[in-house]
Amino acid sequence: MIFYELAKARYSCRKLTDKAIEPEKIERILQAAIAAPTAKNLQRYTIWQVQSPEAFDKLKQATPYTFGSALAFVIGAKKDGAFDRPFDNKNFAEIDAAIVATHLMLAVQDEGLGTTWVGWFDAPKMQELFPEMQGYELIAIFPVGYPAEGAKPSPRHEDRRAMSEVVVEL
Ligand SMILES: Cc1cc2nc3c(=O)[nH]c(=O)nc-3n(C[C@H](O)[C@H](O)[C@H](O)COP(=O)(O)O)c2cc1C
Repeated sequence: MIFYELAKARYSCRKLTDKAIEPEKIERILQAAIAAPTAKNLQRYTIWQVQSPEAFDKLKQATPYTFGSALAFVIGAKKDGAFDRPFDNKNFAEIDAAIVATHLMLAVQDEGLGTTWVGWFDAPKMQELFPEMQGYELIAIFPVGYPAEGAKPSPRHEDRRAMSEVVVEL
């Protein structure tokens, strides 16, 4: 799919199947994610691929939003070692991780799969259940699966502010 079509076609898919996803698709999605730019190329993020039934059960204890899938990616940003802008000490770890997350989300769409960026989860609980996530800002969970029958965008999907409102020419 060309990029503009992909960007328009993407929607938060909240009805997924638990059908296994081909490893080559997962590989391409992860390659697209790690191709993302990061400030000073410091890449202080981790993507956890949650797919064993035990791990997925734990994930479900921290969020109600897995939408029927059996695979999820969790993205964490590590502030320590990421770029700090010297003028105001702004740390770029979460920005970097959000770019990685966006690449991943769009790659999922390009593979004909569905996902939703999930920010509603109990981050402390996640870190209790998955100690390897401690020390990270957990920014997103992406449950991933084939769209289930009847999956469709929510009515809010088309609701976008007008370009004239969000783009300001100076
Ligand atoms: C940072 C972020 C956090 C979000 N968290 C959730 C969430 O926890 N649960 C959910 O169902 N959707 C979540 N969404 C999806 C948004 O609700 C959705 O993107 C928005 O309503 C626009 O719809 P669309 O993605 O179909 O275009 C989140 C999206 C973003 C970007």
